Amino acid sequence: MTKIRKAVFPVAGLGSRFLPATKAQPKEMLPIVDKPLIQYAVEEAVAAGITDMVFITGRNKRAIEDHFDKAYELETELEAAGKARLLELVQNVIPKHINCIFIRQSEMLGLGHAVLCARPVVGDDPFAVLLADDFMDVAAGQKPVLAQMTDIFAAEKSSMLAVQDVPRADTKQYGIVSIDAYKTDLEKVNSIVEKPQPDQAPSTLAVVGRYVLTNGIFDCLEGLGKGAGGEIQLTDGIAALMKKERVLAYRYAGQRYDCGSKLGYLQATLAMGLKHPETGPEFAEYLKQFK
Ligand code: G1P
Repeated sequence: MTKIRKAVFPVAGLGSRFLPATKAQPKEMLPIVDKPLIQYAVEEAVAAGITDMVFITGRNKRAIEDHFDKAYELETELEAAGKARLLELVQNVIPKHINCIFIRQSEMLGLGHAVLCARPVVGDDPFAVLLADDFMDVAAGQKPVLAQMTDIFAAEKSSMLAVQDVPRADTKQYGIVSIDAYKTDLEKVNSIVEKPQPDQAPSTLAVVGRYVLTNGIFDCLEGLGKGAGGEIQLTDGIAALMKKERVLAYRYAGQRYDCGSKLGYLQATLAMGLKHPETGPEFAEYLKQFK
């Protein structure tokens, strides 16, 4: 099967970098202008033709389930108040043909463990993984990043990681891959390591939060022990998968904002505030004074 139908959203993380904002709400519900991060990620998956959204959740994450569910009281109130446009907005957070599946990860054992929790639902199919705090923006008319990847998967049939160059000082925040050469935007991965120190990193090519994986990853994750940071790492599972199958690194077209960090979150808010039809022109005018 080459068509990707399932996407996994690991959303059980604590969001400690955003405390106190994330004390009682999931970090994935932080909005960029007026939409939560998780909704942007789900929309990116929908745009790639994915129909089954598998959320790996944990305690304190109820808001995510509620966000993609029907909101009876709110809808009744909006209807009674004749607020048709807002009612439509609330009712169309997710298209009708999409299935949302929630799996609880009761212990936070790492990203690799979170992905493994999806195994009973994903089964034998290839699937996508999206980390909602990597917010991916593309230029007008450009295909969203995950759709770029699923299109390539249809032709190549290999697991694929979205990658970008980062400053060497930052390698310790990422999975880092090595490739032979930067000939094209799609290259075979030779090695991958989780969060290496700058002086030990094999390159400065970092994995960002979009993956397309074959189901072979599950057996690889199953046998893993703890890796970097004492966690079961997806990166280590991918390293094991590479011994059996080709894995590709894809330098995507688009702009990533690291919304797991305060600065990245502010940058995304600024970029999207300028693009938003309701705020764009006035916001641009307002920003002129800071030049
Ligand atoms: C995770 C992965 C890492 C990847 C990063 C992308 O790290 O473990 O390999 O490069 O996402 O954002 P985290 O940001 O959860 O520490």
